[in-house]
Amino acid sequence: MITFDKETGIFHLKNDRYSYVLQIAKGKYLLHRYWGKPLRAFRDSRPLQALDRAFSPQPEAERGERTFSLDVLPQEYPAAGHVDYRIPAYSVRLSDGTTSTELRYATHRIEKGKPRLLGLPSALAEETEAETLVIRLEDTAGVLAAELSYSVFADSAILARSVRLENTGKEPLDLTGAASFALDFPEQDYDHVALFGGHASERNVERMPVTHGVYSVESRRGASSHQASPFFALARKTADERQGEVFGFSLVWSGEFAFRTEAEQFGTLRLVGGINPEGFRWHLAPGETFQTPEALLAYSSEGFDGMSQAFHTVVRHHILRGSWRDRGRPILVNNWEATYFDFDAEKLDHLAECAKNLGIELMVLDDGWFGKRNDDNSSLGDWVCNESKLAGGLKAVAESAHRRGLKFGLWFEPEMVSTESDLYRAHPDWALRSPHYPMTFGRNQLVLDLSRREVCDYIVESVSKVLTESGVDYVKWDFNRHLTDAFSAALPPERQGEVKTRFYYGLYDVLERLTSRHPEVLFESCSGGGGRFDLGILHYMPQTWTSDDTDAIERLKIQTGTSMVFPPITMGAHVSVVPNHQVGRVTPMQTRAFCAMMGCYGYELDITRFTEEEQAEVRAHIALYKRLRKTMQLGTFHRLVSPFEGSGNETAWEFVSADGREVVLLYFKTLATPKTELRRFFPVGLAADAEYEVAEYYPAKGLSHDGAGNKGTSLKGCAFYGDELMQSGIEPEKIDTDFAAYLWVLRRK
Ligand code: GLA
Repeated sequence: MITFDKETGIFHLKNDRYSYVLQIAKGKYLLHRYWGKPLRAFRDSRPLQALDRAFSPQPEAERGERTFSLDVLPQEYPAAGHVDYRIPAYSVRLSDGTTSTELRYATHRIEKGKPRLLGLPSALAEETEAETLVIRLEDTAGVLAAELSYSVFADSAILARSVRLENTGKEPLDLTGAASFALDFPEQDYDHVALFGGHASERNVERMPVTHGVYSVESRRGASSHQASPFFALARKTADERQGEVFGFSLVWSGEFAFRTEAEQFGTLRLVGGINPEGFRWHLAPGETFQTPEALLAYSSEGFDGMSQAFHTVVRHHILRGSWRDRGRPILVNNWEATYFDFDAEKLDHLAECAKNLGIELMVLDDGWFGKRNDDNSSLGDWVCNESKLAGGLKAVAESAHRRGLKFGLWFEPEMVSTESDLYRAHPDWALRSPHYPMTFGRNQLVLDLSRREVCDYIVESVSKVLTESGVDYVKWDFNRHLTDAFSAALPPERQGEVKTRFYYGLYDVLERLTSRHPEVLFESCSGGGGRFDLGILHYMPQTWTSDDTDAIERLKIQTGTSMVFPPITMGAHVSVVPNHQVGRVTPMQTRAFCAMMGCYGYELDITRFTEEEQAEVRAHIALYKRLRKTMQLGTFHRLVSPFEGSGNETAWEFVSADGREVVLLYFKTLATPKTELRRFFPVGLAADAEYEVAEYYPAKGLSHDGAGNKGTSLKGCAFYGDELMQSGIEPEKIDTDFAAYLWVLRRK
């Protein structure tokens, strides 16, 4: 997969999806030469042009050669402010205050497999699954070295990149920027695509043309955030869902990040991605190293679908781990929107009984079970059951679930502390804050200083104790505010710029310890919904609560946007009450159910209040989901119609089972339209010459009637060849009601 030609200095990284080519020029400069469809060989059909460009300087080593400038050449890991004015990949401040460095090629090695990144989450691979190239660059003044790591996977269109920087000098230095990767594209006529959002409206797909200047998609919130997802793509102007080149990037990192592009004077485009350099400063004593997070680079010549397939494959096989990686996830009921803080043991027992009768598999007790917490103003940090609220303690609640054959789940928010808590009274210095100013609050709580080992130990021990003593099978791990004044009472002044990064080293260590101590527990991450939906977190917790917005129509967009990077098995999605608590919308139960079935399915409403008719409908949905779960969670997912395109009035999704024998199609039409305009959609990924029978079909229902008024045939029982389904398409029956949802199950004969 990786070859090196000594004579030309060319590294060719290749699998059956892409080629990625680097070159050592003049024995020392590491240049980027090609990334795209796989090539037989790279023989340089497009040699780099040597032009004397005014105001583009030469390093002294090339002084006589005015046509050679690093300000013009495509680079792999460019330095700041020396001989290249474009955005840098890294920057340093040496102990004498100067900031120039010169990294040049020193050595390289090619290894089977993929080494783990120390203390950080990363894609994992066996020896046969990947190959890794490590290129070592050394500074000409001997103060710095960088090891650039490139891993090619055998099974996906992904290249993993990361960098380890080392202080090789005799004096300390400060890193003021250390990206995971940089890339120079030879032209600028791309669109950039990012996932913009906010709390309860995460990951909206936004596509805009690249324009001159610097553009940044970033988080400065101490978390990957609702506002921007750690994902970025560059797409050819003509690329769409099914065809055209798309270059996608995602970080295995949960903290602040930045993807910055610069469309510059000579028509090229630089992209740099990694930890956000703003506010970052890492002190490196002589001999110390800094490891950047990993970036996953996806190449697709098959549009956005191809890019998402690459990400989904790498997430499913190399990011997710543990006993739940390939297991269908349990159908849950969460009491949050049903009771908020107002529950007791009796109510929960009744909830467990109803859950059992409906076919639900896991009962989750959300916020409010610990300390003295009856609203969101107190007790975070005191992970001890409030027995005055829950007679018999958590053990009794767990038993009431277990007795009925249900699993039991529990909510925690371990990275936080309330000032009204025993933990804060004992350790006020464990919260992040400025020593000079009044504290800043979010949801009336403070963030714990996870850069401190004793804080991490406290979290591991207090959470672990509850899990062991109460028999918890599932954890919802929440994080409900962002970092401000991220300073540590335990670090010296020169290390305060490290706190927001060290916070995540601490969190990853906590999660590593907890998940290995409790390997059977299913962890679901949450941050006010999907505020920390990233590949770093998924390495420890294989699913994430996608959004606090549970309205089905809103979720069509949120889940479609999320699927750009993350496969459905990572997305928590629940049926909630109508009128919906976030937007007040009233949608049919079937629409809420079909939308939630796209992810890890559950209910988040008072199931004890269902009428008999509702109970029957819910039982049928649960039974249907149990039949289809394997296909929907462990199969291949495709977006067929995106709510971010066209009128935005329609959405269609497809799931194909791993063996290709079962296909589930979901179609949603948000608002009814007056004309008899009927729109077909086209399944993909079927075998053209195989016959598929329409085994099950669920037409849309109105709010007040059962769909009997639907015209047209249901096609149920009919069989079609794959080519007809893919080329002639499927046309949903027209129905005069808003918020319509349809589901088809096709079985290959
Ligand atoms: C966050 C979560 C919710 C719920 C509450 C509890 O907002 O996203 O699902 O758990 O916290 O306080």
